[in-house]
Amino acid sequence: MQTIFEPFRIKMTEPIKVISKEERIRKLHEAHHNVFLLNAEDCMIDLLTDSGTGAMSARQWAGMMLGDESYAGSRSWKKFESTIRTITGIKHIFPTHQGRAAESLLALTQVKPGDLIPNNSHFDTTRANMEYAGAEALDLICEEASDLEKEFPFKGNMHIGKLQDCLESHHEKIPFVMITVTNNTGGGQPVSMANLKEVRSLVDQYNIPLVLDACRFAENAFFIKTQEEGYAQKELLDIAQEMFSLVDAATMSLKKDGLANIGGFFICNQDDWAEQFKNALILREGFPTYGGLAGRDLEACAIGLLEALSLDYQTYRHATIQYMLDKLIKAGIPVVRPAGGHAVFLDAAKFLPHIGKVHFPAIALVNALYCEGGIRAVGLGSLMFGKYDASGGLIPAPHELVRMAFPRRVYTQSHFDYMVEVVLNVWGKRSELSGYLIEKEPPFLRHFSAWLKPV
Ligand code: F0G
Repeated sequence: MQTIFEPFRIKMTEPIKVISKEERIRKLHEAHHNVFLLNAEDCMIDLLTDSGTGAMSARQWAGMMLGDESYAGSRSWKKFESTIRTITGIKHIFPTHQGRAAESLLALTQVKPGDLIPNNSHFDTTRANMEYAGAEALDLICEEASDLEKEFPFKGNMHIGKLQDCLESHHEKIPFVMITVTNNTGGGQPVSMANLKEVRSLVDQYNIPLVLDACRFAENAFFIKTQEEGYAQKELLDIAQEMFSLVDAATMSLKKDGLANIGGFFICNQDDWAEQFKNALILREGFPTYGGLAGRDLEACAIGLLEALSLDYQTYRHATIQYMLDKLIKAGIPVVRPAGGHAVFLDAAKFLPHIGKVHFPAIALVNALYCEGGIRAVGLGSLMFGKYDASGGLIPAPHELVRMAFPRRVYTQSHFDYMVEVVLNVWGKRSELSGYLIEKEPPFLRHFSAWLKPV
């Protein structure tokens, strides 16, 4: 079938304000040409993130009404705990208000200055938390990932040779190894079960724990089912259970594959880690049976986690990304291939080769998408990752990408057709686009609040 079958009916709608191109150009100007400074209601299609932006199901909303707000040992906590235990089989379970809270308490309790944390790719907040604790966050992504257009099914895999070398030379400094599924930073690319197993057997040689960043574990399980030999007949739940059986601990943002608007967790098998985490959690997030969340949120997360493992849902989810990617590839638009699990990534350096990196081609493309069609995407390029050399010259980021992240269960096939049309229109006038200069920037994380001006 060519048509995407959305496996849900829409019971409640949220209006999208339609604003004219002239108005969008004015709004962007008022936002100093930085889409992070736009009002969300001025974005007709908001693809800034897939985190916390999904639509909850009728069942989740019903669960919200049943939320038990007791401080300790609530019914909603029991449901949250038993759902996560079913999926992961892991002994100790702690809720947190979102993913980075779990990362921050993990770093606080297990990481010390001088440590080294290998990962396939750290997400920004994971890296920041490990570095804040004084460790070096090391990305050891597989070779295949460096070629953006190469069709390789598991481009999120850990580089086994590099991990082996790293463990051999530095094992005393490594409190744990992490692996992120799917690899958000590298295009939402999955990690294979075979790779997870190889990583497991390597860390076992040094008795080092393995921690999963499980934000998009259900999307990863779908890739394993559809692309890895031996898994086609397995249920997504079985695959998820196998993934978690290979790790000792995990952090998760439930704003992704928890299909919730807020939430997270930390889980582990080690009793000593659990004790230390629990004490830090009580001090900073809340009592261990709510961990910074309302009882109603625990309900929404517990229900959402199982809905994310529905094959119909994952089939639809992946079809949206594949559908859009296929149309863009057919039109010759440079994109990251193959389709990842939560977003389409445009290659702005190839899209706008006439704009030098010092003029931020990813931002030029993001802003053009907004002016053309009211789409808000995010630039993953030199504005976000670039650094300055001693003389103040820009050291550009390795890639200039634009991430169009898809909120879960929010947009229909018509919206995806619209997005394709907008990208194609911008492609048609790409030679007319120009870059940007920084007018004002803060010392850290400048992409969020910098003021820009057209060259
Ligand atoms: N790990 C990964 C792989 C993530 O993608 C994110 C969030 C986090 C951890 C942190 O979770 O936001 O709940 O604190 N990613 C979002 C994004 C923000 O847009 O990719 P959080």
